[in-house]
Amino acid sequence: MDFKEKIDYKKVPRHVAIIMDGNGRWAKSRGKERIYGHENGINAVRETLEAAGELQIPYITIFAFSTENWNRPKKEVDTLMELLVSVIRKESQELCKNGIKLHTIGDLMTLPEKCQKELKEALNITKNNNKLNLIVALSYSARWEIVNAAKQLAKDVKEEKIKLENINNNIFEKYLTTSNFPDPDLLIRTSGELRISNFLLWQVAYSEFYFSPVLWPDFTKHDFFQAIFEYQKRDRRFGKTSDY
Ligand code: IPE
Ligand code: IPE
Ligand code: MG
Repeated sequence: MDFKEKIDYKKVPRHVAIIMDGNGRWAKSRGKERIYGHENGINAVRETLEAAGELQIPYITIFAFSTENWNRPKKEVDTLMELLVSVIRKESQELCKNGIKLHTIGDLMTLPEKCQKELKEALNITKNNNKLNLIVALSYSARWEIVNAAKQLAKDVKEEKIKLENINNNIFEKYLTTSNFPDPDLLIRTSGELRISNFLLWQVAYSEFYFSPVLWPDFTKHDFFQAIFEYQKRDRRFGKTSDY
């Protein structure tokens, strides 16, 4: 089925978040090292960005590396970091060509210095682009983010910058790393795993979830369009009833 043809352009999500999973299994099924899967995962990111561009979706967030992923074997982590540096370096111009503005969320200080430097440069190079915002979650976990927000908020209360009785959802959100972005309307996870793995716990409170069996390196524009098509069939009630 041609899913793109069936998409209602007036009802595309504003923000799609993606847990890009299955690189390791993809490589293993080909008798290769896990890093081969990560390398091929880059194609799926390109496909996704192209598809999002075609649908004029303004925000895409991708989960590239979790806080817990530091516990993988050193060799995989090191090669993944090197891959990251080379991809950012190579792709910055391409991002500009497509009007993509890069953002990052996560505990970036824990990344190797070389990575931090490349990221800073790419953020700078892409800062005036305004077609699509690409938010890359790196060394990110939602519990880290929420605890961090609570700490900052407590500090501001202590320093009397904010009154305890004034704290509400809107104020709390300002302390999250995603404060400049709308909440995801749709969360996609590939590879058939049905869990959230510490991703955007606060922000997905009312997101629609879509689980795809496809391993991330095989994920194409067609799969993305299918996810959007399925999303458009959902009835988002936000706690209300549909008949009002
Ligand atoms: C997702 O693929 C990429 C990262 C977590 C960095 P995995 O590496 O988790 O691949 P699987 O889930 O083991 O197949
Ligand atoms: C989640 O995938 C993190 C990223 C996609 C970066 P994992 O592969 O790390 O998650 P689990 O371990 O299967 O829950
Ligand atoms: Mg995985």
